Amino acid sequence: MTVLTKTIKLNNDILIPQVGFGTWQIPDGDVAYQAVLTALKTGYRHIDTAYVYGNEKSVGRAIKDSGVPRNEIFVTSKLPAEVKDAREVRDYFDQTLANLGLDYLDLYLIHAPWPWREAGTRYDKENTAVWQQLEEIYESGAARAIGVSNFDAHDLENLLATTTVVPAVDQIQYYIGFTEPKISSFAAAHGILIEAYSPLATGGLLDNQDVAAIAAHYDVSTSQLALRYVLQKGALPLPKATSEAHIVANTKLDFTISDGDMAALDAMPDAAPGKSHNSTQG
Ligand SMILES: NC(=O)c1ccc[n+]([C@@H]2O[C@H](COP(=O)([O-])OP(=O)(O)OC[C@H]3O[C@@H](n4cnc5c(N)ncnc54)[C@H](OP(=O)(O)O)[C@@H]3O)[C@@H](O)[C@H]2O)c1
Repeated sequence: MTVLTKTIKLNNDILIPQVGFGTWQIPDGDVAYQAVLTALKTGYRHIDTAYVYGNEKSVGRAIKDSGVPRNEIFVTSKLPAEVKDAREVRDYFDQTLANLGLDYLDLYLIHAPWPWREAGTRYDKENTAVWQQLEEIYESGAARAIGVSNFDAHDLENLLATTTVVPAVDQIQYYIGFTEPKISSFAAAHGILIEAYSPLATGGLLDNQDVAAIAAHYDVSTSQLALRYVLQKGALPLPKATSEAHIVANTKLDFTISDGDMAALDAMPDAAPGKSHNSTQG
């Protein structure tokens, strides 16, 4: 078992590889195909995509052509944030399956609690109704687990109060100096795993000199330190890379950050101060 294939047990007892390969902003076509193929060849067994990334077809082709058995790859996709009419959910889910060329997903997420252009607006009733559709998909076996993304503690609490299945994960922006403690502690208290998106702050923390200084203690890069930090916090990092060198480098996470350095990283301000954040988080 490698650092990539070691698993975490979700709250419904299914196992999720503790590092996922992110695919946001990887252009559809050959670039996405090659990136995912390289990731699978390098040993990643968990791929994170979304309907709105527009690259599900290429991701699916790479999964098929990799030769890795389907049941050894954990595949996540997401219902677009704009879909708040429960009647549309099943069609989007079926389209995602068709795009990927798969007959089930391992994890299906609501991409955000609000349409992006209305970030911060409450959609409690709609999220409840949409979640009930995800529950049906889950109960049918077409998704082995269901979860959410960009939900704050209020949005999670709303689902817990009004629906039956507890989300398996909440995928949120999470990196050194931006670990969203309110959401993270609410999720931990309810058995919801935090998946860390933008664990490198979409590249924004790679030149941070304070992070680099701590990385030097272990002779690793800032990106490797940032990913290891997320793992040691108990969250699941989703690094994205298109360059083969980056894809490979991000698999070298077999080192341990000391308690002292973890405390120093915990105390750091936002490691990528220019990065934008959801208005309901932080
Ligand atoms: N649910 C959501 O709303 C949401 C939002 C954002 C992201 N996500 C998920 O989280 C994933 C990751 O987040 P992200 O896409 O924001 O990016 P990220 O993983 O934080 O950073 C990616 C950037 O870092 C560079 N990079 C990666 N490894 C590197 C290395 N070893 N050395 C130097 N540079 C390196 C990449 O370059 P190259 O590409 O050139 O290799 C790219 O520019 C997404 O792909 C997506 O799956 C979800």
